[in-house]
Amino acid sequence: MTRTVVISGGGTGIGLAAAKAFARDGDRTILVGRRPDVLERASAEVEFSEICPADLSEPAGARTVADFVRERFGTVDVLVHSAGGNSSLRPATGPAAADPDSADPDSDDPLDLVARDWSLNFRVNTLSSVLLTEALCDRLASPGGRVLFLSSIAAYRGSGAASYGAAKAALHPYAHDLARRLGHRGVTVNVVAPGIVADTEFFGDTGMPDETWRARVDETLNARAGTPGDIAETLRWLASPAAGHITSQVIQVNGGAQRGN
Ligand SMILES: NC(=O)c1ccc[n+]([C@@H]2O[C@H](COP(=O)([O-])OP(=O)(O)OC[C@H]3O[C@@H](n4cnc5c(N)ncnc54)[C@H](OP(=O)(O)O)[C@@H]3O)[C@@H](O)[C@H]2O)c1
Repeated sequence: MTRTVVISGGGTGIGLAAAKAFARDGDRTILVGRRPDVLERASAEVEFSEICPADLSEPAGARTVADFVRERFGTVDVLVHSAGGNSSLRPATGPAAADPDSADPDSDDPLDLVARDWSLNFRVNTLSSVLLTEALCDRLASPGGRVLFLSSIAAYRGSGAASYGAAKAALHPYAHDLARRLGHRGVTVNVVAPGIVADTEFFGDTGMPDETWRARVDETLNARAGTPGDIAETLRWLASPAAGHITSQVIQVNGGAQRGN
């Protein structure tokens, strides 16, 4: 049976790898992100995919995706929340840091910078996932629907920028509450928390300094960084009938860099 899979952040990195994994199973994917050109390029690589450009940190963006799904497909079988990123790794000023909640987006006052950093990480990692979930909740296939969030090893131990780990950690109780809310409909809700993953846009144009990268890899027990495919295959398994009794869990995929708890 062809399933409909909505993947936020589906234009790059883990989201794109997930789209390819679902397409291999014959599923139809809807790739969501802010940059239409990036989504177009990704869609050309993924069979049975369509694109829906939207900024999910705004209610209007989540509504756009919900309208697209309602008009085209009616229901969603799998919802993968890969949109996210560490805004602390991005420039603290300028348009990339534009935050509508900020009184003075150009201020360099240290407290304004802290407020901007925390609210940006909250918007891109927490709010984007919550808004899209709430917009599509009633459209999830019942029974059999799947909701999958992307957290991070940073939710357990920080990453040097407390705001990113905190924004990811906020998804854990949301996922548990959602699993309780949707369980009676036969919908499962789980979280995947990767460690360091190569070949994504996560670390920006310059990437992580070599020394820091090596230190992160050295923390793993299998001496390597994760790949987008590692995470995609975990998402694919959690979305499969085989994982039907797994709900309200956080699955860590990090080469043993952090033990499960
Ligand atoms: N790479 C790692 O080491 C790592 C480790 C742990 C967890 N993670 C998490 O894994 C997820 C996937 O990241 P990745 O590694 O694949 O990095 P990535 O390549 O940067 O992917 C993030 C995607 O999210 C989209 N996005 C960001 N903000 C958005 C918004 N407001 N609305 C809609 N889409 C938005 C981006 O597209 P646009 O810019 O076009 O919107 C991009 O396609 C993220 O949640 C990240 O926090 C990554």
